[in-house]
Amino acid sequence: MPKPLTIPFNKPYISTKCNDYMLKAYRSGKHCGNYDWTNKSIQLIKEKYNTSEIFLVPSCTAALEMGAMLAGLKPGDEVILPSYTFSSTVTSIMLFGARPIFCDINPSTMNIDVNQIKPLITNKTKLLLPIDYAGVPCELDKIKEISNKYSIPVLVDSAQSFGSLDSNSKWCSSEADLIAFSFHETKNISCGEGGALVVNNKEWIERAYILQEKGTDRRNVLQGKLSKYHWVDYGSSYLLSDILASILCGQLEDEKTIMSSRANVTQLYSEILRKFENQVNVIDESQKDKYNHHAYYIVFESHQKRNYFISLLQQDFKVSAYVGYSPLHSSPMGLKLGYKPSDLPVTQDLANRIVRLPIYTELGQSNNQLEYLKYAIETTLLSVLK
Ligand SMILES: Cc1ncc(COP(=O)(O)O)c(C=O)c1O
Repeated sequence: MPKPLTIPFNKPYISTKCNDYMLKAYRSGKHCGNYDWTNKSIQLIKEKYNTSEIFLVPSCTAALEMGAMLAGLKPGDEVILPSYTFSSTVTSIMLFGARPIFCDINPSTMNIDVNQIKPLITNKTKLLLPIDYAGVPCELDKIKEISNKYSIPVLVDSAQSFGSLDSNSKWCSSEADLIAFSFHETKNISCGEGGALVVNNKEWIERAYILQEKGTDRRNVLQGKLSKYHWVDYGSSYLLSDILASILCGQLEDEKTIMSSRANVTQLYSEILRKFENQVNVIDESQKDKYNHHAYYIVFESHQKRNYFISLLQQDFKVSAYVGYSPLHSSPMGLKLGYKPSDLPVTQDLANRIVRLPIYTELGQSNNQLEYLKYAIETTLLSVLK
């Protein structure tokens, strides 16, 4: 047996260059948002992904809220989204009085089942809100067909998929009207709390600057066009501090290292799980080269086996695995809205059987940790599946 270690579920990546960047940002005296480090980060993202307008915001939750405002959501509107997602996907639209219409998922990706969207559309539907679970892109081409046919905009909750690409090597969601990313501590690229909103719909860009800046035209002051800014619209405080943007900048510069280290972990899981392929399902690996290695999951045949796997792995090896999302429709708030667990049978069933394995950059850089993890996971799977 390899030397025992403790493997947490996640650890944020620490870039050494961030010490210097953070101090520089702090000493600059420009600590609020939309200054030099924000601009540098945005530039790095634009160079790499050739994206249109991008806003750095305090979280993916904030990006989703801004997106909901840009889509003009109001009380009584309906939004179609998966139930298998984080609470922020739904709270962001309910904040503006919209009603969530939960859609079941495709078992091969855990993303929204595109074949079930059309029957949910009514004349109140104002937004389609899919997510990219585990970093695996939703089927945006098919979602866009529906969006074009019914003239309903698409906001993709890409909290987990920064760096995942489409078949043209552009961002996987680049055809969506709006894309929301997360740079939370648990994500591949992180700055503690942070996020980004990409606005592809050109008609919304001007307003996005105002919503982000508490309903003011402060951008005109930053650009030297005005000496004083004014209150002109709705808005909130949707700015990432430049100190956090300096950390983000260091991480964006290291994106290649982060991705390739995480790829070592998914490669290891792929090799281990191949031996058990008749007994468990795993994350869809058909798009491996386009995927950002954010997460790796296993789906067991039963709830009991999944739970036994998690507890044995923790108890015998101090390796932390995680169950993933609790479906929203069967959460206390979903039940209050009138949903029943059986309304979305695929979501309910898979959520009971899925487990996410540890993955973080340092793990993929350490042969000792990888060797120990291999031993721990193989041994536990052999016990659980015997
Ligand atoms: C799908 C999804 N959306 C939104 C969020 C919230 O992200 P943030 O913490 O950056 O607001 C998460 C968090 O993990 C998520 O998984």
